[in-house]
Amino acid sequence: MEAPRTPETVIELAQVGRTFTVSRRTGVLRRERRVVHAVRDLSFTVRAGEFVGYLGPNGAGKSTTIKMLTGILAPTAGRISVAGLDPARRRTALARRIGVVFGQRTTLWWDLPLRDSFELIRHLYKVDRVRYRERLDRLTELLGLGEFLATPVRQLSLGQRMRGDITAALLHDPAVLVLDEPTIGLDVVSKAAMREFLRDLNAQQGTTVLLTTHDLGDIERLCRRVMLIDHGRLAFDGTLDDLRATAPGETSLEAVVTRLYTRDRLFQ
Ligand SMILES: Nc1ncnc2c1ncn2[C@@H]1O[C@H](COP(=O)(O)OP(=O)(O)O)[C@@H](O)[C@H]1O
Ligand SMILES: [Mg+2]
Repeated sequence: MEAPRTPETVIELAQVGRTFTVSRRTGVLRRERRVVHAVRDLSFTVRAGEFVGYLGPNGAGKSTTIKMLTGILAPTAGRISVAGLDPARRRTALARRIGVVFGQRTTLWWDLPLRDSFELIRHLYKVDRVRYRERLDRLTELLGLGEFLATPVRQLSLGQRMRGDITAALLHDPAVLVLDEPTIGLDVVSKAAMREFLRDLNAQQGTTVLLTTHDLGDIERLCRRVMLIDHGRLAFDGTLDDLRATAPGETSLEAVVTRLYTRDRLFQ
């Protein structure tokens, strides 16, 4: 009998750092320049088929990490590989293998009907027409988008728009899906539907998912593995049970995570 194959590594970060230089006026002729370490010495790997939660307080470095994973930002230190590619150098090639959703911002065209946005994306990613049709039909059905395909994006509700953004991110059938706060502002029904969709996508198609969220219900229902980042550093990486074990006696995940977020601050 063959030994079980270890799934391949799809995301790898080795000692990754990203700094920003910010300058602010401190007087009429004076400016102060300051270096912000958004991400420091960050190393982790994600294997094919994993569903990983990426947690951290505001300003921890989550979005900066995601922007580096997708090639929007280049790291200032270390190395990144996603689907075997260096994201910042091979952004176009990578775009075919990765889907990204930023919950706070849409990638759709405001004035166009959803259907036209999808068609533009099909052209951008050069998706075969027949496969596109199949995927669009399937995603439309799964996400209940049928009645909104002719609606301009600006007229959609947040939940409808988010489903449109998820569809847009998946039309080219990427191996990796990265989500930055996709459930932000969604009502309980939309949120439940979104979670069910993501769980099925991971379980049935084996899509690797990295999910950033402040909603710990998302994490509890979806993620086997959780990474927690604070002040740009990896503060925790393990299973949900390991995470709970960091704060014995705490019953809710909220309380466990609050402890981790405030751990350093208690001693300041
Ligand atoms: N373009 C930028 N210029 C300057 N500072 C930035 C920039 N983007 C992010 N930062 C800073 O980097 C840190 C991490 O930000 P971010 O990755 O957006 O955090 P999160 O997504 O976890 O809330 C914050 O201190 C933020 O102010
Ligand atoms: Mg963010």
